[in-house]
Amino acid sequence: QAVLPRLHGAYALAVVWAELPGALVVARKAAPLLIGLGEGEFLCASDTPALAGFTRTILPLEDGEVALLTPLGIELYDAGGTRVQRTPTLLSGTEHVADKRSFRHFMLKEIHEQPETAALWVARHLPEPVAGGAEAPHAGSLVALPLDESVYAGVERIQILACGTSRHAAQVGAYLLEQLAGISTSVFYASEFRYAPPPLSAHTLTIGVTQSGETADTLAALAMEQERRQLVADPAYAPRLLGITNRPESSLARMVDHILDIGAGIEVGVAATKTFLGQLLAFYALALAFAERRVGQRQGGGSSGRSREELKALVAQLRQLPQQLEALVADHDQRCAALAHRFEGTQDVIFLGRGINFPIALEGALKLKEISYIHAEGYPAGEMKHGPIALLDAKVPVVSIAVPGTVFDKVLSNAQEAKARDAQLIGVAPDCPDAELFDTLLPVPVVDELLSPLLTVIPMQLLSYHIAAHRGLDVDQ
Ligand code: F6R
Repeated sequence: QAVLPRLHGAYALAVVWAELPGALVVARKAAPLLIGLGEGEFLCASDTPALAGFTRTILPLEDGEVALLTPLGIELYDAGGTRVQRTPTLLSGTEHVADKRSFRHFMLKEIHEQPETAALWVARHLPEPVAGGAEAPHAGSLVALPLDESVYAGVERIQILACGTSRHAAQVGAYLLEQLAGISTSVFYASEFRYAPPPLSAHTLTIGVTQSGETADTLAALAMEQERRQLVADPAYAPRLLGITNRPESSLARMVDHILDIGAGIEVGVAATKTFLGQLLAFYALALAFAERRVGQRQGGGSSGRSREELKALVAQLRQLPQQLEALVADHDQRCAALAHRFEGTQDVIFLGRGINFPIALEGALKLKEISYIHAEGYPAGEMKHGPIALLDAKVPVVSIAVPGTVFDKVLSNAQEAKARDAQLIGVAPDCPDAELFDTLLPVPVVDELLSPLLTVIPMQLLSYHIAAHRGLDVDQ
C-alpha cells in the first residue's frame, strides 16, 4: 500500500514474502487480475482460463485495489486503504472448460467450434416465426436481444472503439448498421481515439468491442468518452455505452451500462477465431434490431434502410448458417492443409477484398502474420493500382475475396490486374465460370452479399492455421 502510489503505468502484481509463506498480496491497475476462491485455497490469475480446473468462483479485483490472500480468507482494500466487502461471482459452465479434445491445437478446435457458436446464436437470438401468425402486424421481433429499449431510442450516430480483430468485426458491423439500419457509423482504433477523439456528436451510441473485456486501450478510450460526455450539460450528449464481449464478468462489463455477451465460450488460442465470428454475429443481431425499429423511416431524403420483408429474408438465410459453416469448415480444413506446403518459401502475401469483405481481407492478413510470421497486407482491392501493385510478382500470392453482389465484377477485374503481374491468385469465391480466373479456388456458397463475411472468413482462418502448423510453429502461443 505504501509502494503502489509510487508506481506509474499499468500493472497486475502478485507479491510473496518469505516471512509470511502462506500469504499472497495482489494489486492491479489498468491490467486484469482475478482472485479465485477454491476449496481450501485462494488463487490469482490474469484471466479465467487459468483458473479452469481449480474453481468457478471468482472475485475480479477493481483498479487500485489491494488484496491479501491467506488460507483464512481474503482481505480486500480500496486505493485509500479502507477495507471493502464484495460478493464473488460464479462463472458459467462453458467458461470453465479448456480442453483441446482430439485437435492438434486449440486454434483448430476453436475454428471447428464455429458451427456450434452460430447454432447457439441462432437459438438465442432468432426467435422462430409464430406459426400462421408471421404476417400479422405485431407478429413479434425478428431478433431477440437482451438489450433495454433505451439502447435503440433516438440514436443518430454510432461510434465503435476496438483493437485488432475486434476492430475488423466492428468494420463489418459499421457496414451493416449503415446499410441495413441507415445509421452513420464510424469505427476507430481505440488506441488512436484515446488521444485524438472526434468532436462530440449528439444522440450518439458508443460501442466498445473487446472479446476479453480487458484490452487496456479499448477500456481507456471508453472511459475517456464517458467522462467527456458527463461534463456536458445538454442531455443530447449524455454517454450511452454498449459493450460487446465474450466475458460478461470482465472490466468492460463492469464499466458500461449495456452488454451484449457473444457467448462463444473460452478461447485459448491467441488468434481470435470463434470470438470473431461471435462478434460478427452480435453485429448482425444489433444491425437487424436497429433496422427493424427503423423500417419505413426516412432520413435525409433517402430511405433509412431495408423493408421488413428484406430483413426477414436475411434472417431466414442466417438460420442456415450453422449447417453452412459445418460443411465449409470440414471442406476448407482439407483444402487449406493441402495448400499450405505451397507457402514454404513465401515471404509476403496480399489479401484483397472490397465492401463488406474488405475487413475480412484485413482479418486474413492479420491472422497470417500473427501466427505464421509471414508478412501480409490486407487491401481494398480497388486501391492496389495506386501503388501497392508494384509489390506483386510470381513470389507473392494474392488471396482475393470475390462474392456476387455490388462489387463482384470490380474485384474480379482487380484480381486480373494482379494476375498481369504474374501473382499466384487464390480466390475465395463461388465455384462459377468467373472463378476460372483464379489459379486456386477456395469455394464458398452463394449467399446474400451482406451475409458473406460469415463464410469468407473460414478459409482465411484455416489457411493461416495450416500455413503456420506446416511450418511447425506453436500457433496457440
Ligand atoms: C488477433 C487478436 C488480437 C485481438 C486484440 C483485441 O487474433 O486476437 O488482434 O483481437 O488484441 O483483443 P480484445 O478483443 O480482447 O480486445
